[in-house]
Amino acid sequence: MSTTIEVLEPYVERCRAAAVSDDPRRAVIAVLESFLADRERHAVLPIPDPGAGHPITGYDETLFEDDSVTVIVVHTRPGFDQPAHDHQIDALIATYAGAEIHRFFRRTGNDAAIAPAGTRRLGVDDGVLALTPDAVHAISAADGAWTRALHVYLGGLTNVRRSIFHPETLAEQPLSLGRYVAWCRPSPS
Ligand SMILES: [Fe+2]
Repeated sequence: MSTTIEVLEPYVERCRAAAVSDDPRRAVIAVLESFLADRERHAVLPIPDPGAGHPITGYDETLFEDDSVTVIVVHTRPGFDQPAHDHQIDALIATYAGAEIHRFFRRTGNDAAIAPAGTRRLGVDDGVLALTPDAVHAISAADGAWTRALHVYLGGLTNVRRSIFHPETLAEQPLSLGRYVAWCRPSPS
């Protein structure tokens, strides 16, 4: 059986080329749109063993990262609302299994640094979600099922100073993995 990187190698290569093109955002969206249409490839992508993932968040499989682009497969475990955060770089997202629920927020300038600003369900038929660098969102898995999605960032994600927002106070803090996990909450049933 092929690994995730073996199955997705052509798309990783196309994302790398798109990221250094004249219009990276538009070019990566086009790559992800073609990925969404490639249903035969979705069917052969490996599904990680749930027992080996993180008990709250699930898995991230980083397929590539340099200063121009980061490509990650995000497997989101159902049952938890993950905390709001920003990216400080463009984020382009395509779901190929299940559906991600994205809650969006706007900045307020107050101690509660953000306020709710709508939601979007993102399944395989819902196109590419394109977030600007200042966007704030939070994700969860819809319908009690695992969600699997390709997340592409126009820059090196691990080198960016990002913010995360407390789930109850909505106060802003520097993002860390520890805070991210600690600030997940069980989804309302
Ligand atoms: Fe995000």
